[in-house]
Amino acid sequence: MKTRDVIVVDGIRTAFGRAGEKGVFWNTRADDMAVRVIRELMRRNPKVKPEMVEENIWGATTQEGDQGLTMGRTTAILAGLPDSCAGYSVDRMCAGGLTAITAAASEIAVGACDMAIAGGVEHMGHHPMGATADPNPRFLSDKLVSLDAMNMGKTAENLHDMFPEITKEMADEYSLHCQQKTARAYAEGKIQKMIVPMTVYSKEGWVVADRDQQPRPETTMEGLAALKTPFRVQGKVTPGNASGLNDGASGVLMMSADKAAELGIKGGLKLKGFAYAGVKAEIMGYGPIPATKRALKNTGLTIDQIDIIELNEAFAVQAIIFMKEFGLKFPTDDRLNPLGGAIAFGHPLAGSGPRLVIHLLNQFAENPNLRYGMTTMCVGLGQGATAIWENVK
Ligand SMILES: CC(C)(COP(=O)(O)OP(=O)(O)OC[C@H]1O[C@@H](n2cnc3c(N)ncnc32)[C@H](O)[C@@H]1OP(=O)(O)O)[C@@H](O)C(=O)NCCC(=O)NCCS
Repeated sequence: MKTRDVIVVDGIRTAFGRAGEKGVFWNTRADDMAVRVIRELMRRNPKVKPEMVEENIWGATTQEGDQGLTMGRTTAILAGLPDSCAGYSVDRMCAGGLTAITAAASEIAVGACDMAIAGGVEHMGHHPMGATADPNPRFLSDKLVSLDAMNMGKTAENLHDMFPEITKEMADEYSLHCQQKTARAYAEGKIQKMIVPMTVYSKEGWVVADRDQQPRPETTMEGLAALKTPFRVQGKVTPGNASGLNDGASGVLMMSADKAAELGIKGGLKLKGFAYAGVKAEIMGYGPIPATKRALKNTGLTIDQIDIIELNEAFAVQAIIFMKEFGLKFPTDDRLNPLGGAIAFGHPLAGSGPRLVIHLLNQFAENPNLRYGMTTMCVGLGQGATAIWENVK
């Protein structure tokens, strides 16, 4: 079967709120957040008529309640896409949104459809991580996976054990730079344009959610050093060097290169290749390393050819291991997360993968000299996900 080039032509996300009652999205449904993203993608792309969108795929980790009923289908209907638009949901935990994108890309590549919307959403306030999960007892009692695998913070502590040369100070220093990069990107107006404002009902009444709640521009090394280590007594992982618990939705509009040309849509990201890989569940943060090696092999590229790497830093230690493995400069490398990462923006699980793609899309649009980019992330229960993209000029 002959495959076709696939282009992400646009992407947008909601602000990322803090999970819980103090979060700006506490009274907002997860599916309505996805709908806001879909409607904005349609509004921003007037050359795309609703009947052209043939598939709508959404990732979510907890697929029940306001994230249930196969959201790809329900959100297509709620967003006003015609009945002819198919839709479904996927779950690869943190990489659910990225999996939605590669699933849509695969459909487009083989000619199953010409155009799709793909995204991810997670309302961690309504669906706390693993709250309603019922793991098979054999999973744990037969020691197929360590009990630590059920708690992501513990998996990060395990990575510190595995790489003792990565100290808590290094994790904090990395996180400080992340917060500073995000503060700079906000000051330069680079983040706001990736966010679709959403009017929501909060404790203060009706407000417009148009900024991420998680970033802490006031972060200092002293402040970070004083934080508790909730996952282990005298551990190394703190709320300051971990991503947070968040609510958010993000999505992209994708089509075949031929369709983009037919509609006169220019620019975007061409998918060069992607790969998923598994690792031991109790060190899930290691996942991006084998996934990236596989994706590089699949595309015939080397890490030196990648101009921007958008890595979802679930935990600082996991990002530092990636930097060491691929020869990036610590504590900050121009190529890695130039606008900051999940430690500052937050990490609404399945909502994060498309955020990485949106960051890449915007940076590539600003700088046509950049050629290749990568989006990579770790996944609960031990996986990594990496996609490699080419700047369409
Ligand atoms: C680490 C974690 C447990 C912290 O949760 P939390 O306690 O609700 O986090 P908070 O944002 O309230 O921060 C806790 C404290 O640290 C402080 N803090 C957090 N970041 C800080 C920073 N950069 N500088 C200074 N203080 C900071 C907060 O102000 C707060 O202080 P307080 O208790 O005096 O109010 C939670 O964020 C978590 O589980 N993260 C990992 C998420 C995860 O596993 N995702 C999946 C990955 S695969």
